[in-house]
Amino acid sequence: MDLSKILKIRSHLRIRGNNLFIRNISLKKLSEEYGTPLYVIDAERIIDKYKEIYNSLSKHFKEFNIAYSYKANHSLSVVNLLSKLEAGATVTSYLGMELALSSGVSPSNVVLVGPSKTKEELRYAIQNNIGLTVVESYEELLSVDSIANELGLVANVGIRVNLNIKSNTHKKIATGLLTHKFGVNVNELHLLLKKCKKLNNVNLVALHSHIGSQILDLNPLKRQAIELTKLYIKSIENYNLKLNTLDFGGGVGVPYLIRKSYITYEDYAKVISTEMKALLKNKNLEEPKIIVEPGRYIVADSSILLTKVNYVKKLGNKKWLLVDAGMNDFMRVALYDAYHEILPVEKLDRKFVEKYNIGGPVCESSDVFAFNRMLPSMKSGELLAMLDVGAYGLSMANNYNIRSIPKTVMVWKDKVEVAREKESLEDIVKKEKVPNFIKELQLVSP
Ligand SMILES: Cc1ncc(COP(=O)(O)O)c(C=O)c1O
Repeated sequence: MDLSKILKIRSHLRIRGNNLFIRNISLKKLSEEYGTPLYVIDAERIIDKYKEIYNSLSKHFKEFNIAYSYKANHSLSVVNLLSKLEAGATVTSYLGMELALSSGVSPSNVVLVGPSKTKEELRYAIQNNIGLTVVESYEELLSVDSIANELGLVANVGIRVNLNIKSNTHKKIATGLLTHKFGVNVNELHLLLKKCKKLNNVNLVALHSHIGSQILDLNPLKRQAIELTKLYIKSIENYNLKLNTLDFGGGVGVPYLIRKSYITYEDYAKVISTEMKALLKNKNLEEPKIIVEPGRYIVADSSILLTKVNYVKKLGNKKWLLVDAGMNDFMRVALYDAYHEILPVEKLDRKFVEKYNIGGPVCESSDVFAFNRMLPSMKSGELLAMLDVGAYGLSMANNYNIRSIPKTVMVWKDKVEVAREKESLEDIVKKEKVPNFIKELQLVSP
């Protein structure tokens, strides 16, 4: 266990007097004040990551929109922070659009994307002047035109293209192949382009592609940039359409595990701009506006899930740490076999000499955060910090096993504020109703 390597790429995490801190804030103190399980979000880390993306893109592109992907983390604290930084938003639902607009995102910086949008979602997007509605099928294109026609408006539309590009990521978060449900294939794209020429209420401005998430290899992202730019040029040259935007989606991964090398946003921005500009050279075309939809890259390492060891036990030949956080609080390990660093919060000078499985309270065998993880010898009552849980953590948390979504605090320099209260039973059931015929039932023995 090389602690210094883990902390090196997470400069907001520090060791003070042998204990783990998030900047100047003691995680032990947070657990005493707010209890566990507890999500801790570092606002400054999100700002740093956003700035890193902003600076990388400004070096290489004239005009761009960083449309933060809300699905990664839609906590009010996070989306309001990003809106203050003037980030755009990529959303996939009606409520997502409402959330972005009510958090102060300008409608022109909102992207609506998703393979099965309802007519109500399309209507809301068009009525509210959402910057880009990305269609994923021929039928959806016709729906957008007909709804915009009813409303007497013209919709700004992008087409999501399925480029059939494989990315080396977990199969459940890969989206770029023809076996997936996303987008239209290149042949069909031509049908949509032809149709767009004839539709009066569609203004086709963009081509879109998103090939998957947690991609750590630049090659598929480079291919994506090349293929999408070629299609962009063809769409303008062959169909005389007035496209002006390329949306490269999200997908740039983060180093959950210590690796020899990993990609930075600067590497990514440089590669896609180089490829795009090389293809546009001598084409007498304006440089398109770029949209990127990063989620994970902005928020993943901003957050920690603090959890307490309830019990230590031996079963078979395995030692288990049974903690108070479960798969309902954080699903990535159960869903994607994801790896997350897990560190003790106190006495970090101890040697990591024991191998533990770390499981939660949920009655499912998939409720395990780690197998055979090296840690110091742990006792019940001790605290563990699961790192990099900011993306696809809280946004996937749920009430399975009648457990509340964890309390969440956001920290900002020396300030700590609650960003989400722990749910009570009343909160969990507040939208439910007991049917009258159940209420009226007399007690009967079966
Ligand atoms: C269309 C779209 N855009 C952006 C993202 C964000 O991806 P990531 O969090 O990997 O940046 C996703 C998530 O998979 C997505 O489906």
